[in-house]
Amino acid sequence: MSVSQFTIRQPDDWHLHLRDHDMLRAVIGHSSANFARAIIMPNLVPPVVNIDQAEAYRRRILDSLPRGHQFEPLMTLYLTEETKIEDVDTGARTGLIKALKLYPAGATTNSDSGVRNFDKVMPVLEQMADIGLPLLVHGEVTSHEVDIFDREVVFIERVLDPIRKKIPSLRVVMEHVTTSNAVDYVSSEGGNIAATITTHHLIINRNAYLVGGIKPHFYCLPVAKREEHRLALRTAATSGNPKFFLGTDSAPHPDSAKISECGCAGIYTSINTLNCLAHVFEEDDALDQLEAFASLNGPAFYGLPVNQNWVTFKKSQEPIAFPKQFSVQNEHVTVFDPGFPLYWQHEPANESEISSDDAVPRMRQ
Ligand code: NCD
Ligand code: ZN
Repeated sequence: MSVSQFTIRQPDDWHLHLRDHDMLRAVIGHSSANFARAIIMPNLVPPVVNIDQAEAYRRRILDSLPRGHQFEPLMTLYLTEETKIEDVDTGARTGLIKALKLYPAGATTNSDSGVRNFDKVMPVLEQMADIGLPLLVHGEVTSHEVDIFDREVVFIERVLDPIRKKIPSLRVVMEHVTTSNAVDYVSSEGGNIAATITTHHLIINRNAYLVGGIKPHFYCLPVAKREEHRLALRTAATSGNPKFFLGTDSAPHPDSAKISECGCAGIYTSINTLNCLAHVFEEDDALDQLEAFASLNGPAFYGLPVNQNWVTFKKSQEPIAFPKQFSVQNEHVTVFDPGFPLYWQHEPANESEISSDDAVPRMRQ
């Protein structure tokens, strides 16, 4: 079915890097223009490891919002071997902390304070399971002998599955899954595990950063894999399966840090993510599943209400022009280029566009 307009509840971003200071001020408006809420990654330098830091960071985010924008940052703590159970309890009880983030030490950008010895964090994980606070995992092992294309699969076997067997009631989100193996694992396990999928992993495979010269703007962690894995992610995202939801992992880095002998991992999609997603879902004849992926499945897993705002997507005749980059101080950040023109844009919905059965998006010709 071909439609030129549809209305869905406003999406959320369940995995977002906003950074701090000048970068935060430069990027926050891109997220708040598109999303009602986002799970905010704690990998600042130094990382957000306790309640006071999380509350201060939340305030800095709110203070950086463009005038008139509504946006709710959902804060997380960076799990370390020193994380205090009291912080987990207080954070959950007050509602400030929505999850803890597990980075294996050295797995990705700013992950040096991450976990080396998983036994040391078991008491915290047990407490999280007791109070129902989700653990968000960057699912890659860091051992040198493991090939980078296998690190997600090996993480599931060696780290994630053993932890989940020891603490079956722990609620886990496998962040930014990139393999059919992760999709299969998450799909076949019980209701305590879900996964986020990024926009860019639905669009690029490993050719994007390796063919025709090294393309640092398509380099992120976990790295995009073979085409068969991209197709498995597309099937999962467009299936409506409540275990899969959007986490953009939009991660701004100045071009000087990306275009370097040792370039940083991270792809910036906050500006055009929803436009890209509408394109992808339409291509897979699944526009009727976009709301589940971007607006319903995430809040359901986190036990949060769905958004009360609605947005209407309209297909324009001409391709939409997005900036190729934007400036931060004396630097530039490059925006993700999906490699095809984008025609879907969105705006707040009018009363008349909101379906009376408010759980079902209205699809219009
Ligand atoms: C993220 C970043 O830059 O903070 N980079 C990335 O490639 N995704 C870190 C992360 O989520 O791995
Ligand atoms: Zn991330």
